Amino acid sequence: MIVSARMRSPMVLGKGVNEGFVASDVTALLKYTNRFLYMEDGEIATLTRDNLHIETLEGKTVKRAFTSVDWGEEDAEKGGFDHFMIKEIFEQPQSLHQTLTGWRSEEERLSRELLSARMMRVVACGTSYHAGLVGRYLFEKFTKLPTQVDMASEYRYADSTLDDSLVLLMTQSGETADTIAAAREARRRGMRTIAMTNVVGSTITRESETSLYLRSGPEIGVAASKTFTSQVMMMYLLSSHMGYKMGRISKGEYDAVQTNLRHVIRAVGGILNDISRIKEQAKWLSEARDAFYIGRYINFPTALEGALKMKEISYIHCEGYPAGELKHGPLALLTEETPIIAIISDDHTYEKMLGNVGECSARSSPVLAIVPEGDREVKRYTDRIITYPRIDPLFSPIPISVILQLLAYYAAKERGCEIDKPRNLAKSVTVE
Ligand code: AGP
Repeated sequence: MIVSARMRSPMVLGKGVNEGFVASDVTALLKYTNRFLYMEDGEIATLTRDNLHIETLEGKTVKRAFTSVDWGEEDAEKGGFDHFMIKEIFEQPQSLHQTLTGWRSEEERLSRELLSARMMRVVACGTSYHAGLVGRYLFEKFTKLPTQVDMASEYRYADSTLDDSLVLLMTQSGETADTIAAAREARRRGMRTIAMTNVVGSTITRESETSLYLRSGPEIGVAASKTFTSQVMMMYLLSSHMGYKMGRISKGEYDAVQTNLRHVIRAVGGILNDISRIKEQAKWLSEARDAFYIGRYINFPTALEGALKMKEISYIHCEGYPAGELKHGPLALLTEETPIIAIISDDHTYEKMLGNVGECSARSSPVLAIVPEGDREVKRYTDRIITYPRIDPLFSPIPISVILQLLAYYAAKERGCEIDKPRNLAKSVTVE
């Protein structure tokens, strides 16, 4: 007999054949079962081989059935890869495809009332926060709604002026305590809430009015990879859907977003087909002590995410910066030992980014430029170049992020780091 109780941290029960399990996350149990039941705060479960009884702290019996998830045992195995992270990086053409094709059923969950919002508020932590930052540009472009992105741990300290905001809570695990606390706070303030998560039945889905599912498949490596690109993809889908329903963009423009997302999936496949150049540059980067990732506009969050990925798994100190801000302080830190990873896209930021590359080279910092295929200008400043397939620049954050994930992975591998379980970190951060 196992007796378990839940209060504030996640707890899931699993049911096998003549056996039962208790864990904090379904991925820990995929090897044994795909039938789960999520406990709620203040519940006590008594689990035996063939029976389950749940009651509340007040002694009231709770009736809730086990439900099946479509994640299987093979998802919890490395399948020939050295680490879960690299397996998950390589799964991205598939996970992105699932997010895109699953969108049809997700959009049905979006009620008309959500469209009456006068402001978007995106709330998330870590990598999910970076996906939220990409989304900010997209919501403003497609819906014209002012959009603010808050770190969940800071959200409660912000005075809210507009109470008809739509609050989008992004958490791949659905169990991040800061994001759950922000969801409660948003509802207390009377806001409409919508969750975006990868885990069906996770806590955030019970704390929000509506939930959207990423369908990326389980992610086991502590560093988020495929769930990040799915979150970003869903930001394109959600913002353009809302923009279309609000009459801010045409049906043709909405359809064009989905066509571009199909190009994105092909571009990611192209990158994964030949990673030799990325490996080579990762080897070089692995010797650095500090590095800067720079980008502008929609690739500024891509720079933040690239830097987070690198520091999280390789322990190299990295900072993501809007390229235009370098001259307001960080230039003082540049030496020949401070690599710069410059993200360049062929849009209205192109000339300015070239200027930044020149500015860094002039201070003797080595620059690794991530550029669209066929670029002829950047090589005037640096011969360290990684290219990505040419697509509409608005959609470039996804393929570029895949390159940055691979750079982090191979740099960390070179340094002999424990990639799937970086020191001091947990996959789900269940404390505030
Ligand atoms: C990502 O690589 C990190 N492990 C971390 O920043 C993570 O994104 C953050 O803790 C939020 O997690 P969530 O999406 O499950 O809420």
